[in-house]
Amino acid sequence: VLHTPEQGGDHPMEHSNYLVYHGLLLPRAVHSQDSLQYAENFQVQDEDIFVVTYPKSGTTWMQEIIPLILSGGDLTPVHTIPNWDRVPWLEETRTSLVIDKMRCPRVFVTHLPYHLMPRSFFSSKAKVIYVTRNPKDVAVSSFYFHKMASFLDDPGLFDKFLNKFLSGQVLFGKWTDHVKCWRNLDLGDRILYITYEEMLQDLKGALVRFSRFLNRELTLEALEKVAEHCSFNNMKNNTMSNYSLVPEDIMDSSKSPFLRRGVSGDWKNHFSPEQEAKFSAVIKEEVKGTSFKFPWDEE
Ligand code: A3P
Repeated sequence: VLHTPEQGGDHPMEHSNYLVYHGLLLPRAVHSQDSLQYAENFQVQDEDIFVVTYPKSGTTWMQEIIPLILSGGDLTPVHTIPNWDRVPWLEETRTSLVIDKMRCPRVFVTHLPYHLMPRSFFSSKAKVIYVTRNPKDVAVSSFYFHKMASFLDDPGLFDKFLNKFLSGQVLFGKWTDHVKCWRNLDLGDRILYITYEEMLQDLKGALVRFSRFLNRELTLEALEKVAEHCSFNNMKNNTMSNYSLVPEDIMDSSKSPFLRRGVSGDWKNHFSPEQEAKFSAVIKEEVKGTSFKFPWDEE
């Protein structure tokens, strides 16, 4: 069900920058009715790999890492293909344009919740890597992304943005809904869960986990090379991954670079004690009854 204002959709949050798709806000700049329909009907192959994230949880990082694991450390794909075509977003407009050029195994990123995955996904053997990031850092990262991307609404004051984030009036809805819907599934060993924080803390360890999961074990030399290339600073200098190919009137890195800080805990520089208390209370309430254990819960 896709409502657009032209069609007389009546979603309260609906306006020009966004489409509303099954209750979720999606930027019109990169999503269309056609692209969403394409995703719904997409023919998933058993060899396909999906990296699933809530926005701002490390998607771009994974668009660098997975092709390098598949290429055994050969940098050609990440030096020659922009990230959005190298590992396209299933639900976005680029996928149908590049699909014929994609080699097997095809790798996609997606922010879709589980129940909105293509019908053929459920009966396939396609693998999934789900990356979770501390929602406080996600909110901060998203706040700056809204400042630099002209196709998103201005975030306004941080406090106001946090309230929107908590109530799910942001891209792809509530963080807690996304994380919950991708847990406790019947996917068995088709899904690997990892956190952004684990990747930060031990990138090589994460690369080993990914490569085993994908049956593409790397030599020690390749592992070193991939880890080196996927460091924050090296990715920041890769024009195929740092969004510098996007015109400045669409993404203005002088307002905030896309690869902004790449750390964990930056929320501490932004949240007041009151904001932190409220944020934590809301998230805690919404994940009640789940067995989630995240690295940031100890903080
Ligand atoms: P910050 O804004 O906190 O710096 P996504 O790709 O899902 O939109 O997420 C973007 C976030 O991932 C940004 O976070 C970005 O800096 C961070 N990121 C991207 N590549 C990274 C890397 N190699 N190491 C650490 N963080 C990275």
